[in-house]
Amino acid sequence: MLNNLFPNVRPRRLRKNKTVRDLVSETKLLKSKLIQPLFVSESISDKQPLDSMPGQFLFSKDSLIIEIEQLLNLGIKTIALFPNIPESLKDAVGANALDEKNFMCKLVSEIKARYPEIVLITDVALDPYTTSGHDGIIKNDVVDNDLTLEALEKMAVNLAQAGSDIVAPSDMMDGRIGVIRTALEQSGNKDTILLSYSAKYSSNFYGPFRDAVGSKKAEGISKSSYQMDKRNLEEAMKEAELDLKEGADILMVKPGMPYLDVINKLSSNLSAPIFAYQVSGEYTMLQQAIDKKIFEHNVIPETLISLFRAGSSSVITYYAKWVAENYDDIS
Ligand code: PBG
Repeated sequence: MLNNLFPNVRPRRLRKNKTVRDLVSETKLLKSKLIQPLFVSESISDKQPLDSMPGQFLFSKDSLIIEIEQLLNLGIKTIALFPNIPESLKDAVGANALDEKNFMCKLVSEIKARYPEIVLITDVALDPYTTSGHDGIIKNDVVDNDLTLEALEKMAVNLAQAGSDIVAPSDMMDGRIGVIRTALEQSGNKDTILLSYSAKYSSNFYGPFRDAVGSKKAEGISKSSYQMDKRNLEEAMKEAELDLKEGADILMVKPGMPYLDVINKLSSNLSAPIFAYQVSGEYTMLQQAIDKKIFEHNVIPETLISLFRAGSSSVITYYAKWVAENYDDIS
């Protein structure tokens, strides 16, 4: 008995074979849209595997340069750098973050001098530099917004001056995009791109990252006093609109896969590129299942495609290198 929709509608016609499926596919996974995060420490002499992120490393300076060269050869041209700062350089206010001759500033200049074609993203937040592990300065038992802004402003200018193409405040202080944008303009860095972690949720998926950068402690005060509440979607729009008004060029949603609705809402409603961050916990979850042969590697492109389908313009993922090594451009 023929269904009365036939012959007009048979969606399976367009799934006939790969060539046809490719012709009608709506989303592309391109390596030009993937950004590799890398962890680096000045106090080690070779790369060290990260226990909580199997397959990822904490790089020494020299091993980082080798890794970057490999990434560029593979076609991954954008890198987000995160430092692991030795305890001896941390203090209550994260003073080392403001030193224009600190490890990160020197590293950024060196990388840009060697590989001018690279696009370097540096993180603007105090957590790797504070003994508390918080993204800001504590005063009267709170992470003080305005005090922290003064530090972030200086940190962002230093990183821009050193040659970062993109500075990325990930701290979630109110008003930081505005003060950083003004400071960049006034310091002659008017073309530095400002990527705001607009909708950065207070997430339990950041644990492995905190191990990697050594910011695990964050005791007492909760990061929920500045990062976004998991239950809120409308508030992400508010944060995003504020950031655009204050001068952000690109907005980020983080984590990625548990927050596809946020990516979708922001990208549907705003005329700015929305990036997604597939964070450390998402990586570790997948990688452990892959290592145990519970999943095959093909879950990796599936997760990335879901982020693009939701509306991401680009994705920061610990799998950028892996994708470039294993596929040309997949779709
Ligand atoms: C902090 C920062 C975090 C991440 C990026 N920047 C962690 C945090 O807020 O504690 C997490 C990234 C990841 O989990 O991969 N400035």
